[in-house]
Amino acid sequence: MCWIFAYNGQENPLPLLIEWLRNLEYRGYDSAGVFAVAADGHFFLEKAVGKVSALATKVEKNEAKNDAYITGIAHTRWATHGGVTEANSHPHKSSQDRFFVVHNGIIENYRELKDTLQKKGYVFYSETDTEVVAKLIEDMYDGDILSTFERVLAHLVGAYALAVVDREHPDTLIGAKLGSPMIVGLSPTGTFLSSDINAVSRVATEFVMLDDREIIRIEGGKYAIFSLGQEVEKNREKITDEFQTATIGNYETFTEKEIYEIPDVFKNALKWRVNFETGEIRSDTLDALGDHEIDRIEIVASGSSYFAWIVGSYWFRELAGIPCEVRISSEFLYDTFIPSNRTLYVFMSQSGETADVRESLRMVKKKWCLTFGIVNVVGSTIARMTDMWLYTHAGVEVGVASTKNIIAQLAVLITMALSLGLKRNLQVKDAREIVRHLAELPAKFELELAGARTLNPLIEKYSQYENFFYLGRNLLYGTAHECSLKLKELTYLHAECYSAGELKHGPLALVNPDMPTIVLNLKGIMRDKTASNIKEVKARNGIVLGVVTEGDDMDDLYDDRIEVPTTHPLLTPFLPLIPMWLFAVGIAKKLGKDVDKPQNLAKSVTVE
Ligand code: F6R
Repeated sequence: MCWIFAYNGQENPLPLLIEWLRNLEYRGYDSAGVFAVAADGHFFLEKAVGKVSALATKVEKNEAKNDAYITGIAHTRWATHGGVTEANSHPHKSSQDRFFVVHNGIIENYRELKDTLQKKGYVFYSETDTEVVAKLIEDMYDGDILSTFERVLAHLVGAYALAVVDREHPDTLIGAKLGSPMIVGLSPTGTFLSSDINAVSRVATEFVMLDDREIIRIEGGKYAIFSLGQEVEKNREKITDEFQTATIGNYETFTEKEIYEIPDVFKNALKWRVNFETGEIRSDTLDALGDHEIDRIEIVASGSSYFAWIVGSYWFRELAGIPCEVRISSEFLYDTFIPSNRTLYVFMSQSGETADVRESLRMVKKKWCLTFGIVNVVGSTIARMTDMWLYTHAGVEVGVASTKNIIAQLAVLITMALSLGLKRNLQVKDAREIVRHLAELPAKFELELAGARTLNPLIEKYSQYENFFYLGRNLLYGTAHECSLKLKELTYLHAECYSAGELKHGPLALVNPDMPTIVLNLKGIMRDKTASNIKEVKARNGIVLGVVTEGDDMDDLYDDRIEVPTTHPLLTPFLPLIPMWLFAVGIAKKLGKDVDKPQNLAKSVTVE
């Protein structure tokens, strides 16, 4: 997605902005740009398609980089309106090189606005919606950038985080947001605007969250926030350890590093929530949730978070006896919404900023329903909007494809299901048995990580294929989907996932020796039924890689096997993930793909 960063204060903004761009490289983008203005109004503007390093090289070669600037804005772009070209990269400007704008989000009515401006004689150099904002500011300018900006915003339909500089007033930076995130970072030397709290945490000591429709004006490094034309006081929050920064250490990729962090991530997610000595769940949030009369759960998420929820929904039904429906956020948002005050609406998102999830949450809140968030990024929009929430505490996830956070999400989900179950019909001894097995999981993850090398021959063999089936049933169905998505994302190979029982209803037509089937078939989860489905594949000369429980005796069923440790049947969804993610990473590396930044993808999808 697009990300913005801006600074006004005593430091030269250019090096700060370039450093920021490098830090956010992991989020996925296709071009970048930077603008800085000096006290006398002369300015510096560079844009580059491709990596931030290309922009940094251009900046380095530009002698004007050493001039003294006071305000700057920077941007990484993930193309939505118009191709990946330098002309379409931000910052965008008005015709007189006066107003410069960076933007994250989508201006939905940009076409009408552009038509009107074109009729007035404005000429556009890009295909973007953002250039329209720069030209509109120019068109509506009334002598005061704050009041002009306020009136411009009233014409915009869609989502935005915008930062604007008027070259005639170089010591002033203006920003506003609607939908898209914007964080105000405060340091002893100046004030930052950023789409990303972690980026702010590197440079600021405190932060302020801007709310929708608020406008910020930063002048001489000092800020004032306005709502409906009136200045408002906002809470300043301290930057704490939660906003960690990530370093790659000795790993080749962040994604691998994050997979190797899983045992600690899992422990961290449960540290204050499960008492492993007594087997009790102890969470004030979950206790408070248990007091609500809920007879149904509706769950909204996207991508990997959605697949984690598919697993979670089995736990909620099995352990808490609560009917539970999982919805893809982009579908839920435009479906007929039937509110119920006995339903809990849960929104799960690593980033806490995914636009489809965020807008679904907004829709549910408008009907006064009870909302619950499960979020990784502390202070993110979804965490702030929900009535109750739990953090997954997985730490910063740099790899664009989510890994460690999914384990943390699953850990939170099983805890939540146990807690709700204990308020209903779940027997304490059964809950304790599950907690006992949860306590053993980190050691099992360690075993899986230690066995990573055994995957090498399989990586070698299966990297020769271009199409894959993934199969799983019941509790392993969501996990199979997640494994399939990760192969697609990291290797760009074609993979599709089905419930093993669904294969015979159509997809079986595709089975042949060139399309291997990867099947999750662990003990305790309908193993014999899945075995019958595998036989259907084998009977059609399909090749089968089985992910099985250690010591599984169904030898003749699989061409190859990956063994995972035994656990309680309800916890089996955790165990295929590490080997299957390492398998996907291994194939991606073998095929020379960029594991941390897969093509076309972005870490946090802040547009619908
Ligand atoms: C897959 C992946 C994505 C995200 C999805 C939702 O590896 O990372 O599918 O899971 O974009 O993102 P969040 O969880 O931030 O809402």
